[in-house]
Amino acid sequence: MLPFKSLTSSKQLTPKIIEQLFAVIDDMAASIEAKGRIELLDDKVVALLFFEPSSRTMMSFQSAAQRLKAGMVFAQNAASTSFEKGESLEDLIRMVESYSDIIVMRHAMPGSADIAANTSKVPFINAGDGGNEHPTQALIDAYTIHKKKGRLSDLDIVFGFDSLQSRSIHSLSRLLAQYQGNRFTFTGPGELEPSASLIKELEDLGAQCTVTSDVNLHDGYDVAYVNRLQEERFENRALFEKNRQKYRLTKADVENSGCLILDPLPRIDEICTEVDDLPNAVYFEQASYGVPVRMALLAMLLGKA
Ligand code: NCD
Repeated sequence: MLPFKSLTSSKQLTPKIIEQLFAVIDDMAASIEAKGRIELLDDKVVALLFFEPSSRTMMSFQSAAQRLKAGMVFAQNAASTSFEKGESLEDLIRMVESYSDIIVMRHAMPGSADIAANTSKVPFINAGDGGNEHPTQALIDAYTIHKKKGRLSDLDIVFGFDSLQSRSIHSLSRLLAQYQGNRFTFTGPGELEPSASLIKELEDLGAQCTVTSDVNLHDGYDVAYVNRLQEERFENRALFEKNRQKYRLTKADVENSGCLILDPLPRIDEICTEVDDLPNAVYFEQASYGVPVRMALLAMLLGKA
């Protein structure tokens, strides 16, 4: 059982909870191998509300629900729902909670996840609230790092290239800052450095933070976590255009560095395709863990694992 009803921030994912979740994720991965689908949530309905574009998150939640034999209801963009008519998020949630047993939502507004979680009588999962948080992605990322490195502490991690606006970077750094001895190096355009408040939050938890425009992955880093510049979140289009292809990992940057390369995807300009075949490029494997991770979260929040 998880000590919370809803998951809105990776701050909730403490090392103790992560340990429990990893055991359930391993069980879910084994059940996919052995049986494909299991009847764990066949008496439940999952609501999937995606008001911002999504491929991996939406499909892996669908696949997770299917593999647990849950029913599903969907709303896939704001224009096809009553938002278009001016309905409030609170009213929408009050309605959806009566159609489902758990609500998964992605929404463009930072803080929308807290509003929805506080309104909903049924468990709620944040699948991305604007540029704020993406806790289920952080769980996938942490699971991948743990599989590959055998630990989540004492790691040297590079984050790039839009630490200001990437909710994936925000959530993973908040999760990993709860472990001992982690050192974070944020890199990318100066204008896209992490906010002072995020750095303070991470340092208060004990993580050592450095911000620099230049990093050499051959300098002993364990993990590089890169994410595209978040084009849709730029108020200043010229700033995006100026930087869009400047920060890009090449084969020479990555090969023989011993540094794992993770990316929540979609990959746009941040990694050259020539990197894909290197043994330390693990982003597609990382994406594959989306299904067992989301199966574990659905099952645990519904009190079935
Ligand atoms: C991320 C997101 O939506 O924040 N994608 C994902 O869920 N895998 C990263 C991104 O869109 O850049």
